[in-house]
Amino acid sequence: MLDLLHTTKTHDETRQGEAVELAPTGKADGRKLYIESYGCQMNFSDSEIVASILIDQGFETTKDYKEADVVFINTCSIRENAEQRVRNRLKEFEAAKAKNPGLVVGVLGCMAERLKSKFLEEEKLVDVVVGPDAYRDLPNLINKVEDGNKAVNVLLSREETYADISPVRLNTNGVSAFISIMRGCDNMCSFCVVPFTRGRERSRDAVSIVKEAQDLFNAGYKEVTLLGQNVDSYKYTPKVEDGQEPLPTINFANLLEMVAQVSPELRIRFSTSHPKDITDEVLYTMAKYENICKYIHLPVQSGNSRVLELMNRTYDREWYMERVDAIRRIMPDCAISTDVITGFCTETEEEHAETLSMMDYVKYDFAYMFAYSERPGTLAAKRYEDDIPEDVKKRRLTEVVNKQQIHSLERIQQYVGKVHKVLIEGFSKRSDKDYCGRNDQNTMVVFPVDTRYKVGDYVNVLGESCTSATLIGKIVD
Ligand code: SAH
Ligand code: SF4
Ligand code: F3S
Repeated sequence: MLDLLHTTKTHDETRQGEAVELAPTGKADGRKLYIESYGCQMNFSDSEIVASILIDQGFETTKDYKEADVVFINTCSIRENAEQRVRNRLKEFEAAKAKNPGLVVGVLGCMAERLKSKFLEEEKLVDVVVGPDAYRDLPNLINKVEDGNKAVNVLLSREETYADISPVRLNTNGVSAFISIMRGCDNMCSFCVVPFTRGRERSRDAVSIVKEAQDLFNAGYKEVTLLGQNVDSYKYTPKVEDGQEPLPTINFANLLEMVAQVSPELRIRFSTSHPKDITDEVLYTMAKYENICKYIHLPVQSGNSRVLELMNRTYDREWYMERVDAIRRIMPDCAISTDVITGFCTETEEEHAETLSMMDYVKYDFAYMFAYSERPGTLAAKRYEDDIPEDVKKRRLTEVVNKQQIHSLERIQQYVGKVHKVLIEGFSKRSDKDYCGRNDQNTMVVFPVDTRYKVGDYVNVLGESCTSATLIGKIVD
């Protein structure tokens, strides 16, 4: 199924569904771990926690699964084809297992949580199945497997945030890093499997988040992305000793401010904002701090109020437009991106046209666009028939994609002729004569290397030309 289409090449793109291997790290004490991640940034962030837990046990990491003692695949269930990719990849591990019967193969993440011990029946090669809240148990589970058993831990937790575990940064450019600020989701959008695979929403201790940001900054990082399925519902009440005055609850706007104050040289990004929860307080906090990037990922899913209701998104078309108006009013230069689902149950042509007209209204900078994929166990799977034929879903998807391409180009064209503050993230994919980095609005900018500046520096770049995904320019002083 044509499912995941990007019209823009953003930093996030490599994070969605691409396998990224570990850079070799850790103490050499024999056992080697290979881990591969699929799905959203949360999963990539979790793999860093898993690596940290196992490196503490004396593991070292490898980039080559053929030389590993333990192979983990951190999985995603969001759409059917995400699961299919994982199954195909598992088949490729069969040869490695045949050669080395002692090899431990583990499935982590959302698919592990969804399928639980069924995984062991369906995929004989798998030895261990571990859900997203059970990673602390990994050393014990691996021992069980090495004693000749299969092992499963898919318990979800109401408290686990791994707040005390310092993630090992994997595949890092040394400039940007992710920080998980919460886990789980309580929203129950009817199409979505995440509440079932990730459990209840819980927020991580704000002090540990700020400390992680500070540690990253001290280690030379210049950008952090705060991660949660719905960052706007972040809520943490600091614990106090018996008899002490209770401390005020910290909301997302407060947290943003705390992280922004680590240093004006540290850029802050975040994802994902839920249209029902994003507050003016958050928008004003963004406006107040130059180092909070003017970019909001605000998934609309559909532009039609009836479909939004069926999706259980708890906002309607007018509410969403009002939130967009508020963003434009408070931060006229803010970029907005979105997620769109085409062909949700019972969606009519007129309703689909409202998604297109919503796109015209907002003129998104980027979009992730998907054809609806029914997921077992979700509210939509239970309540509604998946009645839009695949070819109709795909045709609607193509219309959405084509429209987005026009808007992406339009949005980026307005950056030509202007000077942008860009954080140099590395060399461009195409040529080591060019640097690449992003502006405040998250647009990728490519410009010739100037030896006075290095990766991790901020530079002013004049936009000279563009494609629909990249701004091309030169450094100006
Ligand atoms: N927490 C985020 C979304 C996480 S999932 C939010 O609420 O916006 C990322 C995107 O995948 C969703 O925004 C949605 O557009 C898409 N998605 C989720 N379930 C899907 C399904 N069953 N079929 C197609 N796309 C889906
Ligand atoms: Fe899924 Fe909705 Fe939660 Fe996002 S907010 S993770 S779409 S249930
Ligand atoms: Fe996929 Fe789980 Fe993320 S289903 S999108 S990896 S939360």
